Amino acid sequence: MKEISNTVRVRFPALSENESVARVITTGFLMHQGVTPAALADIKTVVSEAVTNAIVHGYRGRDGARCPVFLELTMYADRTLVVKVRDKGRGIEDIEKAMQPFFTTDREGERSGMGLPIMDAFTDQMKITSSPAGTRVVMKKRLP
Ligand SMILES: Nc1ncnc2c1ncn2[C@@H]1O[C@H](COP(=O)(O)OP(=O)(O)OP(=O)(O)O)[C@@H](O)[C@H]1O
Ligand SMILES: [Mg+2]
Repeated sequence: MKEISNTVRVRFPALSENESVARVITTGFLMHQGVTPAALADIKTVVSEAVTNAIVHGYRGRDGARCPVFLELTMYADRTLVVKVRDKGRGIEDIEKAMQPFFTTDREGERSGMGLPIMDAFTDQMKITSSPAGTRVVMKKRLP
């Protein structure tokens, strides 16, 4: 993995319109990497799910314009892609529970509880660290 071929780091406020900004940045980042359309779709999905979680859960009940979300994309020379998404929100109480399909703390019935299971399934490795000071999700995927 070691040798980095490219890396991009962005910070944006927790506004829902920035979900699509994150997707466009991801597309731009991968455009020059010869990624298959299927792999690109998967990666855009995991970025979008992670960013959405930061915005809607991490900063629930807060003024998103004042809450930072961090996205980092790194491509290594061996074509391992590492995606990091971080927020400074409320944190996940029980990560194991949160990872289960259909688990959601959403009360409005808009969410299906499938974001984390999808992120896990679409990548080779996913690690979550979380505390009441924030959440960090690191995902790795080896591209063909
Ligand atoms: N960044 C985060 N900060 C705080 N809580 C989070 C964060 N990400 C996930 N969670 C918690 O984990 C739960 C499960 O997340 P997951 O993405 O799987 O489902 P969801 O967001 O509720 O629904 P969906 O992703 O299908 O719209 C969330 O309901 C929320 O309680
Ligand atoms: Mg989600």
